[in-house]
Amino acid sequence: LLGNPEATRRFKTAWERLPQSARPLLGYASGRLVQDVIDLLATRVLPWPDYIIGGVGTQIYDGQRKRPLNEFNQQFRDGWNLAKIELVVGNFPGVTRQPPRFLHPYKSSWYLHQATPETIAALEKQLAEAGLKVCVVYPSGRDLDVLPADTTKGGALEWLCRHAGLQLENVLVAGDTGNDASMFLLPGVQGIVVENAQPELIEAVVKVPTFNATRVMAEGVLEGLQHFGVIPVAPQPAVQ
Ligand code: GLC
Repeated sequence: LLGNPEATRRFKTAWERLPQSARPLLGYASGRLVQDVIDLLATRVLPWPDYIIGGVGTQIYDGQRKRPLNEFNQQFRDGWNLAKIELVVGNFPGVTRQPPRFLHPYKSSWYLHQATPETIAALEKQLAEAGLKVCVVYPSGRDLDVLPADTTKGGALEWLCRHAGLQLENVLVAGDTGNDASMFLLPGVQGIVVENAQPELIEAVVKVPTFNATRVMAEGVLEGLQHFGVIPVAPQPAVQ
């Protein structure tokens, strides 16, 4: 949704134009922490959402009640040892730590540039040998996230739907990187892949039916929303 401010504004307009009674619930699923997303939303670039999935699926925030769903985090307590993870990943060649604003007790995030799948597999092996049950996500050839086992944006979305009594068949997701793939792979969920998606997302979702937008970023999302009939027509950019 971000990256092209003009298109982001158009998304906001199109969304807010939907009559309240016909407007679906809106959620943002981000690699950023919930607080970071809230800070961004304070600038009013995007509509206020019903839910925020933050930290690559390690946090869920209820936008209607304005409170984190801490029940979600209880499942992470077993088998998670942040100090040990930091020791293993911190000693891995080429890895540097992400700044503190990207980290929280259930998200250990690092930078590792252009690592091969073999390198990531080697790191996963070291973590497993240290007795850690974690999930390694490596989108964009740069970001390396170590998360509690089985944690993904998709896992968080599934938990949220169960919690809120929503059917996966009624969920539409949109994304651009590999950390979005898990949401597209949930059974019943429909998806919009924007044109500027990373090859890793396209590869990961190749076997599931998705709508591949011809436009980038928020424009691609708008195109997909029109395709799925959520909005009547995607608003066009104002002629300069
Ligand atoms: C976002 C987060 C970063 C994370 C990345 C990939 O950029 O800020 O911490 O590593 O997404 O999930």
